[in-house]
Amino acid sequence: MHAMPSAKPAAAPGAPDAAPGDPALRFEFCGLNFASPVVLLSGCVGFGEEYTRIEGFSNRDAGAIVLKGTTGKPRLGNPPHRVYETAAGMLNAIGLQNPGVERVVAEILPQLDFSETRFIANVCGSTLEEYVEVTRRFDQSPIDAMEINISCPNVREGGVAFGNYPHMSAQVVAACRQATGKPLITKLSPNQTDIRENARRCIEAGTDALAVINTVMGMAIDVTTRRPVIGNVQGGLSGPAIKPIALLKVHQVYEVARPHKIPIIGQGGIVSATDALEFLIAGASAVGIGTALFYDPMAVKKINDGLGEYLRAQGLANVTQLVGSLRTGREMEDCAVSG
Ligand SMILES: Cc1cc2nc3c(=O)[nH]c(=O)nc-3n(C[C@H](O)[C@H](O)[C@H](O)COP(=O)(O)O)c2cc1C
Repeated sequence: MHAMPSAKPAAAPGAPDAAPGDPALRFEFCGLNFASPVVLLSGCVGFGEEYTRIEGFSNRDAGAIVLKGTTGKPRLGNPPHRVYETAAGMLNAIGLQNPGVERVVAEILPQLDFSETRFIANVCGSTLEEYVEVTRRFDQSPIDAMEINISCPNVREGGVAFGNYPHMSAQVVAACRQATGKPLITKLSPNQTDIRENARRCIEAGTDALAVINTVMGMAIDVTTRRPVIGNVQGGLSGPAIKPIALLKVHQVYEVARPHKIPIIGQGGIVSATDALEFLIAGASAVGIGTALFYDPMAVKKINDGLGEYLRAQGLANVTQLVGSLRTGREMEDCAVSG
């Protein structure tokens, strides 16, 4: 077992206040107390209010909530269609629609109850300067942490280019690092040749944690009109269809992150406690759910319950004991060729 020292069981007392959940699920992530390893993902929960109207749903069940991607200026996003259901997944090309960092900080953050859970901003930009501007503004806000989105496949400039080239990723991370002392999480793209090298460069540049993975690029065609279904032509694929890809990327990034004690938020297609367990065993300290929330907002509760049951059945006192506990007799290099 390789429990990450930076993801150790949370010492009581600590925010979120009066966490009602299972003590075995509580742990510390980058110095923040999480009531559960389950994180609600950016773009799938609006600005933290999205599901609070649903009976039985509580923000308190989540370890953290990542807010919608935020840019320096407001963005209207891409033309429709912006989402499309695929086999076991969903394509989206929202195009980072958001009201801009100033409104998020001045009008939205004051509405959030920071005693419920940890709130994490999702920082986006088209230029290095914009990433820094957004980071600096959030640094002067009550936000708990920031996630740098260098991996959005749905905007023409910025995002994806920064995320696909390790040296550019490192530049963004280093610049944001200068702009804040709050925990910085860097969200990596699966749409690149060597995610390990990218992770390595981001760690060197000062990231405190990594989020693995953002969506996988894809497209769909309407054969009647012979047009792309998605207005942006291409979109990001999410949901169970990408789970095996995401799991391998987490396993690969963990190899690089583990010696540096850099925790990972594993994500991509998680819908059940078993999915979440796979990511924890592969090396994630926390697990994100996004697309599953669109059809089952209660997935958070179910995953928490399932994780607790598994820990008890395995005689484990805390979820951190599972992190990176994969049993493999072979090194990854031996497995490089398959089929
Ligand atoms: C509709 C939609 C909007 C998204 N918007 C963002 C975003 O603004 N910033 C970001 O970093 N990721 C965004 N994502 C990616 C998710 O946060 C997540 O990394 C990805 O969907 C994989 O997880 P999942 O399969 O559980 O959905 C979005 C995903 C979806 C489905």
